[in-house]
Amino acid sequence: MAESKQSSLNLPGINVAIIMDGNGRWAKKNTLNVTSGHQKGVDVVRTIVESAAKAQLESLSLYAFSTENWSRPKNEIRGIKKLIISAIDSQVPELIDQEVRLNFFGDYSSFGDDVVGAICKAEKATAFQDPRLKLNIALGYGGRADIIEATKLIASDIKLEKLSVDDVSSDTFFRYLKAPINELDLLIRTGGDHRISNFLLYHLAYTEIQFTNTLWPDFTQDEFIKCLEEFSNTERRFGKRTL
Ligand code: IPE
Ligand code: IPE
Ligand code: MG
Repeated sequence: MAESKQSSLNLPGINVAIIMDGNGRWAKKNTLNVTSGHQKGVDVVRTIVESAAKAQLESLSLYAFSTENWSRPKNEIRGIKKLIISAIDSQVPELIDQEVRLNFFGDYSSFGDDVVGAICKAEKATAFQDPRLKLNIALGYGGRADIIEATKLIASDIKLEKLSVDDVSSDTFFRYLKAPINELDLLIRTGGDHRISNFLLYHLAYTEIQFTNTLWPDFTQDEFIKCLEEFSNTERRFGKRTL
């Protein structure tokens, strides 16, 4: 049943992002430590990537760690750091098999050289010219920082006469942002909260947004497919009169 549902749903060219929230509450509910919650969250990523590739999405962008998350306890951050390295080790071979191109974005340098090195290696190993799916992982990412950095780069290029003020358009702005997508079609947030938490602020202008109470470690391929189906049944008007 779940399989036929999956195979009939194709959304080529569609860009989806997910705020994967609820690992801590899931761990608490199951009387586990928070790192076990994040570990379960990483396992779920594998299944959702598989579904996204089967649905022929253009890209899947996952919010793994925000600029604000740096204020979490050192222990939790240490656990996340280890998980990033082990997840890359265990999941990259499968990503290569599925022809998924992996791309991390955000300021993740504070995780240390071992994380930066593992990311660099994983990106090189999956650098397909024409990937089946682009998998973007936001790590140490903040939408405001992205906009501010892009503004500074634009100002600097104008000063250096590489860019004229009149050339600054919406498309130009996308080129200066670190997030490797342009228009975002669908954003899903798990964990029950109805907020953006500083994710892809510039990209969200006409994004469909879905919230689910499911905690990220409980999120399934079936629920993901239901989200995609709901999206495909939505009329997107972009401000136009369609009646
Ligand atoms: C999301 O889960 C993962 C990160 C922010 C790193 P949380 O750890 O925020 O889970 P809750 O919201 O506390 O349940
Ligand atoms: C959003 O979750 C960030 C990620 C999922 C990486 P948070 O748990 O950090 O968001 P808030 O604090 O509830 O807004
Ligand atoms: Mg949270």
